[in-house]
Amino acid sequence: LVTNTKNKHKRKPKMNTSGFYKLTIKQRQKIIEKQTNTKLHALKNFKTLKEKNADSMIENVIGTISIPVGIATNFIINKKPILIPMATEESSIIAACSRAAKLSNGFTAKNKSNKMTGQILLTNIKNPQNAIKQINKNKKKILKQTKNNTIIEKLGGGAKEITAKKIAKNKIEIHLIVDCIDAMGANTVNTMCEKIAPTIEKLTNGKALLKIISNLSTHRTVKAKTTWKKQKISGENTINKIIEAQKFAQLTPHRAATHNKGIMNGIDAIALATGNDWRALEAAAHTYASHNKKYSPLTKYYKNKKGDLCGEIELPITVGTVGGATKINPAAQENLKILGTKKASELAEIMAAVGLAQNFAALHAIVTEGIQKGHMRLHAKNIAINAGATIKETNTIAQKMIEQQEITETNAKKIIKKIRNQKQLKEQRK
Ligand code: MEV
Repeated sequence: LVTNTKNKHKRKPKMNTSGFYKLTIKQRQKIIEKQTNTKLHALKNFKTLKEKNADSMIENVIGTISIPVGIATNFIINKKPILIPMATEESSIIAACSRAAKLSNGFTAKNKSNKMTGQILLTNIKNPQNAIKQINKNKKKILKQTKNNTIIEKLGGGAKEITAKKIAKNKIEIHLIVDCIDAMGANTVNTMCEKIAPTIEKLTNGKALLKIISNLSTHRTVKAKTTWKKQKISGENTINKIIEAQKFAQLTPHRAATHNKGIMNGIDAIALATGNDWRALEAAAHTYASHNKKYSPLTKYYKNKKGDLCGEIELPITVGTVGGATKINPAAQENLKILGTKKASELAEIMAAVGLAQNFAALHAIVTEGIQKGHMRLHAKNIAINAGATIKETNTIAQKMIEQQEITETNAKKIIKKIRNQKQLKEQRK
């Protein structure tokens, strides 16, 4: 723990944290409370994720943090109505994509495969041509060595292919392609790569320096598409503006980054709700967006013959419905039940459809009323709640603050006082 003498809480001088990881959660909490002069109330919440589960998931656990989970409605994906749990701290996301889904004709989505890529970097290769030849000659033997009797293999998954190519002088890159079925697959792929590395070193007389999954999962891409009828989305003029907005993202990475961030707002929220690794999704999406040597938008829009707006998305989505945090966290399990799927491929298809809906919603708002109006509505509600409004009062107070164009806690308190006084007067008159 770092000591900051200027801190007004006057932290104690440097403490010895050695062995912190060996302590119980309660012991850790006590130390942190004492050391940082902070009473841990909120963090001590283990109602959903039990202490022992949290402690087995990560290191040095002292608590958990809550994020609201909301349901995105109106989604029909591959002809199936689906309720979509999304965990996010950002207002407007769920309302926006639910509305985009309502205005759409329903989504079709297709996951290419569940194959992930493991990478091995071979260095010190004196004769790369010969090394590649040896790997190709021994493919079957190497693939056999990956076998570990895992559930993935029992379900027909496992390592399917191995390829090798020279990437620099004395360096070879190996790709191990693994079908991960319903698992995200990082552990499986990493284990396999580490297992075959010594054999590959022997065959090539090289040094296997890196043995690790690649997050650019080009075999695990998903496509989703839909159409928005022009009469439902304020006409051809709006459609032209949305197409123009997408073109802008193609022209400049400064816009493309924000465009894609909006897509990931939806995708990450489902990942968080289902206990999936959103950092892997982010890494894959943004690298895929730069695949053609230029960072580009992950969605595209065009008009069909009727003049309606067609939207499409394509990106890698690496998620699992088994194992990892998904299995340990009971809330993730319930969210998967709400989604009604046990298949990673279907979960990925849902995420792609939501990503597209989210992007449409953002572009539609930006080119019409602007993004702030919707944001402000929810922001105003938050301010009203913080100022002490009851659930019943929240909407009225938020609306009043918007009308007065003064969304502040002070104003919210003033309005609360006023409407409570008015209510009291009314009751007295009765
Ligand atoms: C905000 O979280 C996301 C947006 O900025 C996305 C976009 O601009 O397309 C609204």
